Amino acid sequence: MKLIAPSVLSADFSQIASQIEMITAAGADLLHLDVMDGHFVPNITFGPKMVADIRKLTKLPLDVHLMISEPEKYVNEFAKAGADWISVHYEATDHLNRLVNQIKDAGAKAGVVINPATTVDVLEEILPYADFILLMSVNPGFGGQKFIESSTAKAKKLSAMIKASGSKTFIEMDGGIGTGNIKMLSDAGVNVFVAGNAVFGSGDPEKTISEMKKLIN
Ligand code: DX5
Ligand code: ZN
Repeated sequence: MKLIAPSVLSADFSQIASQIEMITAAGADLLHLDVMDGHFVPNITFGPKMVADIRKLTKLPLDVHLMISEPEKYVNEFAKAGADWISVHYEATDHLNRLVNQIKDAGAKAGVVINPATTVDVLEEILPYADFILLMSVNPGFGGQKFIESSTAKAKKLSAMIKASGSKTFIEMDGGIGTGNIKMLSDAGVNVFVAGNAVFGSGDPEKTISEMKKLIN
């Protein structure tokens, strides 16, 4: 499975309806929505109301990336708002197994995110429970940052761990991804590619998405 998930963080929020219409027509497979609280990460974006409003604009699955402290307080609300996938940071909770189950009980696919400085080794016990792992390839908080090169080796290592465990977990990567590195990441085992700046910042998002798809299929 190989999917492109444009990140709405790089869209123009004042034109959100037309931006989402445009990106849906351009061939996006799902929409990546970055929720930031100004506490877990040094930036603030939006909450469940925005997710519910975006839900009305597209049939694409909504991939909600929670960069917030105490995510256990909010996952049900995001599921109710229409999130199809919900990912939470390993670094943001003390009870990851409970939280993953809470997300699944709420009816969404459950993802576990790790920051660039967190080793994939900490994921061993959660792999059988998580639907997907999201590897951050930039420090979370902002779009348009430079890809951290060591993320490729991390994807390879995680991919080998998943194979050895026999689990069906898939790998998503987020940060600094574009046409220049997507093939290398796909070869390293990444299944879902988040791209903000590369898609919305390009003059022609449709062309960029189709180039990305060619490179990974
Ligand atoms: C960063 C967010 C990303 C961001 C990626 O904290 O989690 O989803 O939008 O943007 P680019 O693709 O521009 O690095
Ligand atoms: Zn994200």
